[in-house]
Amino acid sequence: MKLQGKTAIITGAAKGIGAATARLFAFEGARLLLLDKDEANGAAVAASIAERGGKAVFRRCDVGCEADVRAALDTVVDVYGDLDIVVNNAGWQLNKSLLETTAEEFNAVLNTNLTSMFLFTKGAAELFIARKKGGAIVNVCSTFAVVGSPGYAAYHASKGGVASFTRAAAISLMPHNIRVNAVGPGTTDTPGLHDGARDTGDEDQGMKSFLALQPLGRFGKPEEIASVIAFLAGDEAGFVTGALWMADGGYTIV
Ligand SMILES: NC(=O)c1ccc[n+]([C@@H]2O[C@H](COP(=O)([O-])OP(=O)(O)OC[C@H]3O[C@@H](n4cnc5c(N)ncnc54)[C@H](O)[C@@H]3O)[C@@H](O)[C@H]2O)c1
Repeated sequence: MKLQGKTAIITGAAKGIGAATARLFAFEGARLLLLDKDEANGAAVAASIAERGGKAVFRRCDVGCEADVRAALDTVVDVYGDLDIVVNNAGWQLNKSLLETTAEEFNAVLNTNLTSMFLFTKGAAELFIARKKGGAIVNVCSTFAVVGSPGYAAYHASKGGVASFTRAAAISLMPHNIRVNAVGPGTTDTPGLHDGARDTGDEDQGMKSFLALQPLGRFGKPEEIASVIAFLAGDEAGFVTGALWMADGGYTIV
């Protein structure tokens, strides 16, 4: 069990990549605080892990809200007395071009997708430093951090920020033995992807148009992103920091 004895926070754990990451981390022996604003699905993921003998507690958290992030960090200490890993996964995609996006919408995307990562990274780093045992942070980024497209202006900005913030945080936190890395998922078959397809006006047609762009001829599976997150979070990646590891079926190399 590669994460035995580790305590981890996973955000956006109610569905998709976050839920797959929660299941894998539990299988690998980690104790989990699962966070999401979707209480019903988040509690169900924690319950299904507990039924299989894993350790998972769910709390509602809006990751862009500083008070919620502070409460989550207090909870992990109250429940487990420890913290080793944070997976900053929660995010959403606004399907709007630059000219269609309002300033309010732009800020809302940045708040959930980027400010949240600052809040959790800073808060967790303070805990790691106080406990003098280092730590690992994995930020879920995107291929859209490094390629452009006509839609999704705010999303591109947020994920570009995640990539850059990951490098800056890795350098800032090196002296404290805290590693900060990012994973860049390609198009992955999650509820969020189906939401994006629905936003095009026709879910089936939207999914087909996304599929046509995939070099491997298929979407990624949430479990295929979770396995990269688990690697970056674990001790096997002890010499890896500041990396943006693409898990995109070749999307960014063709
Ligand atoms: N699926 C893809 O194709 C894809 C590709 C690249 C990157 N990503 C990234 O992967 C991450 C997970 O995406 P997914 O596809 O699994 O999405 P999803 O929509 O299936 O799941 C995202 C989860 O995050 C939660 N969430 C959203 N906003 C939140 C907030 N403010 N506070 C707390 N929880 C919140 C949602 O409730 C949901 O449970 C996101 O950061 C996304 O940008 C996904």
